[in-house]
Amino acid sequence: MSAPKEVAGYKLGKLIIEGKTKQVFDLPDVPNQCMLINKDRITAGDGVKAHDMEGKAAISNQTNAKVFNILNSAGIKTAFVKMVSPTAFISKKCEMVPIEWVTRRLATGSFLKRNPGVPEGFRFTPPKQETFFKDDANHDPQWSEEQIVSAKFKFNGLVIGQDEVDYMRKVTILVFEVLEKAWALRDCALIDMKIEFGVDQEGNILLADVIDSDSWRLWPSGDKRLMVDKQVYRNLATVTAADLDTVKRNFAWVKDQLDHLLPTVHHKVVVFMGSPADTEHCQKIAKAARELGLDVDLRITSAHKATEETLRIMKQYEDTNNALVFIAVAGRSNGLGPVLSGNTSYPVINCPPPSDKLVQDIWSSLSVPSGLGCATVIYPDSAALMAAQIIGLKDYIIWARIRSKQLEMAAALRKADNKLQNLTV
Ligand SMILES: Nc1ncnc2c1ncn2[C@@H]1O[C@H](COP(=O)(O)OP(=O)(O)O)[C@@H](O)[C@H]1O
Ligand SMILES: [Mg+2]
Repeated sequence: MSAPKEVAGYKLGKLIIEGKTKQVFDLPDVPNQCMLINKDRITAGDGVKAHDMEGKAAISNQTNAKVFNILNSAGIKTAFVKMVSPTAFISKKCEMVPIEWVTRRLATGSFLKRNPGVPEGFRFTPPKQETFFKDDANHDPQWSEEQIVSAKFKFNGLVIGQDEVDYMRKVTILVFEVLEKAWALRDCALIDMKIEFGVDQEGNILLADVIDSDSWRLWPSGDKRLMVDKQVYRNLATVTAADLDTVKRNFAWVKDQLDHLLPTVHHKVVVFMGSPADTEHCQKIAKAARELGLDVDLRITSAHKATEETLRIMKQYEDTNNALVFIAVAGRSNGLGPVLSGNTSYPVINCPPPSDKLVQDIWSSLSVPSGLGCATVIYPDSAALMAAQIIGLKDYIIWARIRSKQLEMAAALRKADNKLQNLTV
């Protein structure tokens, strides 16, 4: 494959690396980013089996872009920036961790050979996570975490130790669970998949490389006979033009299905405040909620002073067919939350504003009449999080945003602790 000089208006620099299915180019005008160009090439068995397949580069490129757009909106830190041509995309330039991170929901393929006695279809809960060292010549040997840590890899200044391995393992499982939920929307079972990580110029670990039909086993209706992934190609003893057409048709089908994998539920979180004096507290709720991907409205209305209007505003939201969560912010005696709760079948969360008298005022939120089920929290972040958990029941992107945030918070604590230990030693 000859090297192009320019793609989609981007000047290409030197070829950083060329693998079995992609070329990676420097972008002299875009610091810290690179361009990955897919090849019309399909390979299996560490490259032993390989065929040209016209149109494969474009299908892979679009599949990858759609998958990474889902993962980016799920809050997962990835290297993917954007698709720039039918066969090319831009990524943050990484030094790659030479490990394949595999997650399995059902036992099949090489797992059965390495674990005799386990029947095909054995279900792993939680998903099984395995790691393989990327080394075609030695058929990508399985590596333990201890082997990865002991290798003392260093990429862009970051040493890959236990914390980094823990982080990548957790992200690997999250990526699998997000895509498993996504594919479930099309009644497809994600059986297993592999991903790779890189370290960007600033030393951040990012999900990198690509995810396409070469990355997973995907069984429509959970039926192995209907498989639409690269296993179809791997299984071919001889490869005819008609066989390659079937494989390509499967890949194209998967690429098209990806357009239907975003949640279809529309939601709205409505923060009602009893007085404009509560605006600051409500803005904090809205900010935390929006960071979790929620669509938020703020409304001022007093259930004590303008009951009919409060109910009318609430009914307007109820008439929209959205998944709804109401958050009630009222100082002193909270009439707002309980009145909303007594008149709707949607969840209501009380989040009274800070006050010297909060301990006595809180009872108006807690001791509600029979027939009411509103919850009460006192921190803006908690109200936002609880709303996200409710919406996340029906929207896997919001669910994933919560998981991503938890994962990043835990990683930040590890980093802070390491820093402290290094200071005090
Ligand atoms: N964001 C990135 N920055 C730098 N290199 C990358 C990035 N994403 C993927 N790569 C590397 O690009 C190379 C080419 O990809 P590929 O053809 O799939 O190679 P392989 O045959 O080794 O799997 C791989 O070595 C991969 O690790
Ligand atoms: Mg590869």
